[in-house]
Amino acid sequence: MSSQFHPDNNDTINPSSNETIRDVIANFKGRRNFLKGSMGTAVLASMGGFSMEALAAGYVPSPSPANGGIGFSGVPANIAPMTDGITVPTGYSARVLISWGDAIGKTGPQANVHWNPAGAMTEATQLTTWGAHNDGMHLFPFPGTGAGGVSSDRGLLVANHEYVDPGLVNHTTTYSTDVITKAMVDAQIAGHGVSVLEVRKVGGEMKPQRPSAFARRITGATPCKLSGPAAGHALLKTAADPSGTLVLGTLNNCAHGYTPWGTYLTCEENFNGYFGTTAAKLSAQPLNNLEKRYGMAQGGFGYRWHEADARFDFRDTPNEPNRFGWVVEIDPWNPNATPVKRTALGRFKHEGATHSLGADNKVAIYLGDDERNDYMYKFVCANKFNPKNRAANRDLLDSGTLYVARFNADGSGQWLPLVWGQNGLTAANGFADQGEVLIKARQAADRLGATMMDRPEWVAVHPTTREVYLTLTNNNRRGGTTSNAVDGSTTAGSARPPVDAVNPRRDNRYGHILRWNETNGDVGATTFEWDIFVECGDKLDVDAHHQGNIIGDDLGAPDGLWFDRDGRLWIQTDQQGDATGDWVNIGGNAMFCADPATRQITRFLTSPRNCEVTGVVTTPDGKTMFVGIQHPGEDWSGSFTANSTWPDSAINGATTQSANGPVKPRSSVVVVTKDDGGVIGT
Ligand code: FEO
Ligand code: CA
Ligand code: CA
Repeated sequence: MSSQFHPDNNDTINPSSNETIRDVIANFKGRRNFLKGSMGTAVLASMGGFSMEALAAGYVPSPSPANGGIGFSGVPANIAPMTDGITVPTGYSARVLISWGDAIGKTGPQANVHWNPAGAMTEATQLTTWGAHNDGMHLFPFPGTGAGGVSSDRGLLVANHEYVDPGLVNHTTTYSTDVITKAMVDAQIAGHGVSVLEVRKVGGEMKPQRPSAFARRITGATPCKLSGPAAGHALLKTAADPSGTLVLGTLNNCAHGYTPWGTYLTCEENFNGYFGTTAAKLSAQPLNNLEKRYGMAQGGFGYRWHEADARFDFRDTPNEPNRFGWVVEIDPWNPNATPVKRTALGRFKHEGATHSLGADNKVAIYLGDDERNDYMYKFVCANKFNPKNRAANRDLLDSGTLYVARFNADGSGQWLPLVWGQNGLTAANGFADQGEVLIKARQAADRLGATMMDRPEWVAVHPTTREVYLTLTNNNRRGGTTSNAVDGSTTAGSARPPVDAVNPRRDNRYGHILRWNETNGDVGATTFEWDIFVECGDKLDVDAHHQGNIIGDDLGAPDGLWFDRDGRLWIQTDQQGDATGDWVNIGGNAMFCADPATRQITRFLTSPRNCEVTGVVTTPDGKTMFVGIQHPGEDWSGSFTANSTWPDSAINGATTQSANGPVKPRSSVVVVTKDDGGVIGT
């Protein structure tokens, strides 16, 4: 994510010379003889409340069961001049499955009609075609004869469409000065949301099934129900929806989740960027604390939708932004089901929603808030999953407890409940009821003293041990002295907290991966033990604290994270993707495979220019892998194909448009298979 429409956080503001935890420990080691005795403990306490001994003390990883291991030979980094295509290991193949604007196979005359990117996208065309900028995705297998009674030859591939580049949609290179029309905005809104695509193996190859009765587009204009404790809240009511229960659409659908009962969860991340207002209106009514804490700004990210649609002017329709920032549940098996925004899971910049199912059928959902110095959350359902009655689980996500994480320096942690009436979450502090706690979840977490994190992205739960892994992608605002204010008045991303044990590097350019075990393996536990799985970095960086401690291939900005059925951990990256500056050695974005037991990390796939690798899942047999490539060629300027001609260059197989030649780079999903038909990763 590097365009203005999905701004990244790589521009260091207010660089600080504060020392890192590494520096603290190095100094301490050097001076430890002098510190022995009476001074030691007090000095350590003054260093931030944690000790070197605690950092070194034993986190006990979950016993890693034997897994298939990493059986392939890694591919080289895609360094400059980059290959504008996907590379996978010898013995593997990658080919394009579907791209932005390709028909999703809705029954009727549009079943096989693909968009030609030589012109503008329209709302009507986008409603029958694959959305823009695909991100998190899951495959729901059909019943079949495979293990577990499911098929590896037929499934519903459900994917998020995070954002759009307006110029690519509206076919203009002068968007920032164009007159914005409602039709232009509607085409962009239709590029967001979710696609449901039936895929089937035909002649040994996984392909889109066209037509399919399951094919569906959910967009930024599809009616969605609000349910749970905040539904109908005064802060969710608008003139168009006085009930506060029916929202038009879902936006900025970043990562995802799925439930044990076979529904899909799409997560609304940077929703604030779509809203704007005029300088005069903002001057007459400045931002309130709620708006500041969620990053509202006069111009948003530059979409300018508010100029053509008053719904996106947050002074004309002030509660509309409150209706975004939720986790939305979708039943992929019922094309007519209304998506449901589950307010019990809280409102923030939701990255993903990864479940952990206990042996006792208790359900927890892990939820990252991807903003610099925001928080890690967990929702625990009040009732248990019923494996024998799907309908009984329909509203499981409406009742339960939302917690936010506090990571202690000694390797322990607590889940702090966001429950109205407890721990200062009271009317006197601005929370009139549980609905308000959930709508203002960030501010409630500020009040509880949650740990400020280096941008929580995806969570992956080990398939047998339930050990939880979390990517913390980067944070150029770590290593100062300021914190999110307890009264919730901090502007999003503006604090610069000190380094701490769980976020140990100032100016954390390359990110890290954290892991934890819930106490007694109980997914509903309120305590846990954590450690850092890996500090990412560039071994050739001149600054030791950016070098990381990777065993194997270097990477930075970890984002996508997923465990396969055999316990291999797949890591996807989201950095600038052009192999320049901080990335000359690491190269473009890539996907890696990690062994949780040995910590070996090996590069599996490298990507086209200026894209992000995001979204990964396999068929149940592990032999067909789907991988998402988002925003190839981004920040095109002047010429759509200035940076990338992927995928219509056909470097990874023919596309629906490759016969016409590349006109615009297009986000796509590729299918990776092993030439010998084996399990991916072996
Ligand atoms: Fe949309 Fe946090 O990545
Ligand atoms: Ca992401
Ligand atoms: Ca991202």
